[in-house]
Amino acid sequence: MQFTRRKIIGLGAALVTLSSYPLLAGQSLSTSRPLPPRRKPSGTAPSIVNATLRAAVRPTKLFSDTLLPLWTYHDDILPVIRVSKGGRLRTAFRNDLPEHSSIHWHGIRLPNDMDGVPYVTQQPTPPGGEFVYDFTVPDTGLFPFHSHCNTAEQLGRGLAGALIVTGDETKFYDADLLCVIKDWRVGSGGHFTAFSNDRGAARAGTFGAVRSVNYQHIPVMEAPAGGDVRLRLMNIDNSRVNQIGLEGAEAAVIATDGQAIAPFPFETWRLGSAMRLDLCIRMPAPGHEVNIFDYFAPEPVLLATIKAAGDGFVRSDFNPAPLYAADITEPDLSTAIYKRIEFSSAAVPSPRSVKLFNGKIFDPMDGLCLSDKTFWAINKTTWPEDGHQRLPAPILNLKKDQTYVFELVNATPHMHPIHIHGHTFLYLNSNKQSLPKHFADTVLLKPKERIHVAFKADNPGDWMFHCHIIEHAETGMMSILRVA
Ligand code: C2O
Ligand code: CU
Repeated sequence: MQFTRRKIIGLGAALVTLSSYPLLAGQSLSTSRPLPPRRKPSGTAPSIVNATLRAAVRPTKLFSDTLLPLWTYHDDILPVIRVSKGGRLRTAFRNDLPEHSSIHWHGIRLPNDMDGVPYVTQQPTPPGGEFVYDFTVPDTGLFPFHSHCNTAEQLGRGLAGALIVTGDETKFYDADLLCVIKDWRVGSGGHFTAFSNDRGAARAGTFGAVRSVNYQHIPVMEAPAGGDVRLRLMNIDNSRVNQIGLEGAEAAVIATDGQAIAPFPFETWRLGSAMRLDLCIRMPAPGHEVNIFDYFAPEPVLLATIKAAGDGFVRSDFNPAPLYAADITEPDLSTAIYKRIEFSSAAVPSPRSVKLFNGKIFDPMDGLCLSDKTFWAINKTTWPEDGHQRLPAPILNLKKDQTYVFELVNATPHMHPIHIHGHTFLYLNSNKQSLPKHFADTVLLKPKERIHVAFKADNPGDWMFHCHIIEHAETGMMSILRVA
């Protein structure tokens, strides 16, 4: 299948429709093709993976001969950790950066005190300090991990990694390729430029001049010709929304934010910051190649190439096997409580006095986790901008084990990838587009879009709920949901 750009864009709205707007109470959640239920655990003890992540400055020649002062978790500048589903991940984190940090395990439904949010779930780990993250991974799929403090700079300098939780495949793939997409804010001299500026923070974000996949500019990968390849795409850019397109291969979507979905033909998909997409692609004949593009640009931007290598498999028609169904409880909409949540620009500066938060005192020594500007709000509330204030009260107090439907309302002319910690949403429907129902921990709101998502608030704690355009979060579009 070869697509022209025009065709791709035209097909954008033609994705499978399983739901319509508005949400009807009691609407059926069944998808068109049921996914195979997971095998019962085989009785063997869950595996334990020990990881060591040492955040440090690691000057690296990434795109030129100039050493770029990357901040990374490992000498492998983009670490990938693999754990099997139900296994335990024990991470010894050491911070050798010149400022405090933490590790947030994005999208993992873990205990609140392992969530890695400074001041909210743990004290930040100071320079020279250590912290052990120790939790069980309940869901399969691809997840980013990244810092959650001074994030525009820390993530901007490369402080991130990929966690792959295995155990969802009903059939072997001929290859498994990871594509971690990120801009680099690097200027012509080969040095970092500003990770954020007011113009970007108040609009779509401060984009980088250099695109990358796996921290390389237009890498060329290989996969067996004619083979069926699992392609795991993940956007870890601070800001940029990529509209993924493929040329040179047939492809099907098999997972969103790591969670299985009944396979459907891939045309294009928008990946905001932290969002993931798993595709199964059929590689072309030997010598041909598959190109991965970002179509969200005046001209398609080539991100990476996959060469068809070897003599080639001869396979029958392309009919990708589904992954095992996710282990996330499908929310029961008949009992759901509805909440409207509006994302807007901040009309007024954030209030100087914020309510006390459960007795906890927010007393950052350095104000690193806060910005001095406020541009954005959630339900007219902004994350406080002052470095010496207390944590804001939760914008919502949710009852444990209650099912909620959130109507996410974008009252701005910009896109916002909205992320919930500790839980996974079921995306139901939108007033702007027809996507199949799918699980997601980060949901991209287009300008003026309204999206319904549902979830069971079954994980107690104070959970961050924010836009994942880091500059938007750091200038007000960030909040806490309390589940108790
Ligand atoms: Cu990936 Cu609160 O973030
Ligand atoms: Cu935003």
